[in-house]
Amino acid sequence: MNQHQTSDITQAVLDRLAPGTDPRFREIITGVVRHAHALVRELDLKPQEWMAAIQFLTKVGQTCDDKRQEFILLSDTLGISMLVVQLEQARRSAQALADRAARLQPTEATVQGPFYWEGAPELALGSDIGQGMPGEPAYYSGRVTDTQRKPIVNCCMDVWSGDGEGVYDMQMGGDAGMRLRARFHTDAEGRYRFWSIKPSFYPVPDDGPVGDMLRAMGRHPNRPGHIHMMVYRDGYVPLTTHLFPADSPYLDSDAVFGVRDSLIVPFERHAAGKAPDGRVLDRPFHSAQYDFVLAAAT
Ligand code: BEZ
Ligand code: FE
Repeated sequence: MNQHQTSDITQAVLDRLAPGTDPRFREIITGVVRHAHALVRELDLKPQEWMAAIQFLTKVGQTCDDKRQEFILLSDTLGISMLVVQLEQARRSAQALADRAARLQPTEATVQGPFYWEGAPELALGSDIGQGMPGEPAYYSGRVTDTQRKPIVNCCMDVWSGDGEGVYDMQMGGDAGMRLRARFHTDAEGRYRFWSIKPSFYPVPDDGPVGDMLRAMGRHPNRPGHIHMMVYRDGYVPLTTHLFPADSPYLDSDAVFGVRDSLIVPFERHAAGKAPDGRVLDRPFHSAQYDFVLAAAT
């Protein structure tokens, strides 16, 4: 009599992988099957528990639309996004270390998050993207160089943040349009400068299934204040990162594990008066200075 039942279901699934399929896909799907089966065994998972997991993931999918990405939020709050970023950073740092001429390490990357919006307006250096927004004004300036301190000219810096109360344009509902976003290009010395607001801490969206998960885990949903930037130019490894004000709450417990010490920056507070770029402000403002380093693409 034919034997149809499988004694080792994990191996049986792996044996069904057709020869000639993409090698990296094979590696990844094999890892997924092995680890998922091992987890089910380790937890001695009950059918109702597996069904609860399926219902949770269904809800995560149903919560996504063109402005809300609950799967990215799930990946972020479980630390998976940041783990992937760190592995990529380690690869990049190893390349920079192998480059004997390198004098600087590339700037550390962190999570992109769900609020990047492609196509922000291209503005002149020194522009103010925070005018009329809740929050105290902040002047951002510095340079972009390569690992040998050579300025990177005409380098794009795409910046975005929530307002001084932690609200992003994409969360405003209706079609509020873009705010607190822009693309700047470095000058002939690799310098950048622009005005925005000092970003405030805020909760990641917690009114969906990921919020339920955080509450079940006894965790708060807050991120420390930060401004996002994507820094890129042909010939260099693109960088997606943040700057965090050094006095922000939640630096030690970011809901998405995105804080790197090297990205924490003092925001100096100034009384109303003349700013570093000569502008005169009638209310207190901050200044933050940071130099970015990009690795050459190999
Ligand atoms: C953010 O920084 O915008 C963000 C990152 C991860 C999850 C939610 C928000
Ligand atoms: Fe953010």
